[in-house]
Amino acid sequence: TAEQKRSDYDLMLHAARFYQHQLKHHANSKTVIDYIKGRGLSGETAKKFMIGYAPSEWEALCQQLGRNKDQKEQLIELKLASEKSPGRQFDFFRDRLMFPIRDKRGRVIAFGGRVMQADQGPKYLNSPETRIFHKGFELYGLYEAKQAHKKLDHILIVEGYMDVVALAEQGIEYAVAALGTATTAEHMHTLFRTTDKVICCYDGDRAGRDAAWRALENALPYLADGKSLKFVFLPDGEDPDSLVQKEGKDAFEARLSEADDFTKVLFNKLSQEVDLTQDAGKAKLLSDALPLIEKIPSDFYQENILEHLGRLIGRTREQLNNRVKSPKQQHA
Ligand code: GTP
Ligand code: MN
Ligand code: MN
Ligand code: MN
Ligand code: MN
Repeated sequence: TAEQKRSDYDLMLHAARFYQHQLKHHANSKTVIDYIKGRGLSGETAKKFMIGYAPSEWEALCQQLGRNKDQKEQLIELKLASEKSPGRQFDFFRDRLMFPIRDKRGRVIAFGGRVMQADQGPKYLNSPETRIFHKGFELYGLYEAKQAHKKLDHILIVEGYMDVVALAEQGIEYAVAALGTATTAEHMHTLFRTTDKVICCYDGDRAGRDAAWRALENALPYLADGKSLKFVFLPDGEDPDSLVQKEGKDAFEARLSEADDFTKVLFNKLSQEVDLTQDAGKAKLLSDALPLIEKIPSDFYQENILEHLGRLIGRTREQLNNRVKSPKQQHA
């Protein structure tokens, strides 16, 4: 009966261990290990992140972990298996490099799987949401980062699994990734409960720049006094993985130390959309900026931004004061 009462977390851990075992013992093992090495990863880092291999066969995991009806059902509920027809299950992840996603306590709650050759379906396949996996709340690498540091002085947010793992390989063990979604308000809440300094470093492409803006908007409500939010913009075509492998830890960390403060990013973005030589443009900047400023709980940041805004649009602080509600007033 212990077998029947296998918890969801226990099953996910067994799946992760199964994939890890296959990485070393499957017939495709050499190809997979060559892929991992080709991406610049050591065995030690692969082990730290419990990286594995989901076999190419249709029912490898199902046969191993779905020995009775209850177990098969649980595999389906946790989205490790799909059902062709009643009673006919097959593995959800096949022939993929597997990244177990752990919650902040270290329990395996989901997987991301990468194809290793082109034309084998979507590049990444992620576990759909389940009763133990809520995408918008989890951050890949947060558990591992906490393991590496007693106290996380700062956290770097990146886009992908490979970015987190490649950075760790180079000795930067404080990166986390949102799981194929934008960085949500819940992610920001979690991050600012864990650390005072958050640095965003998305890919050097259009999607990465859009992601930075959404992250900024989502972070504003958590910018209390003492919290800091910064942004690093990478050269076109680079991501943290490609760049840290090219230039190494020190050069990459130099970029982080020169990151742009969120206030600069905020004004750059808002100014791009208006003509500040015209009154209409100044008025639009003001009306775009005010609702964002009002979300910031820190009086200090609010002051700084209002001062900067006043200079841009030719208004004094007193004139602006009447226009902005502080979050405290809003909650009163
Ligand atoms: P590599 O190509 O292995 O270096 O991965 P990457 O992290 O650089 O990928 P990319 O920048 O294209 O995407 C960033 C993240 O978005 C990935 O880590 C995934 O979480 C997610 N993602 C990318 N491609 C897909 C896809 O085809 N499907 C889904 N669901 N998610 C994806
Ligand atoms: Mn959910
Ligand atoms: Mn990308
Ligand atoms: Mn990328
Ligand atoms: Mn990449």
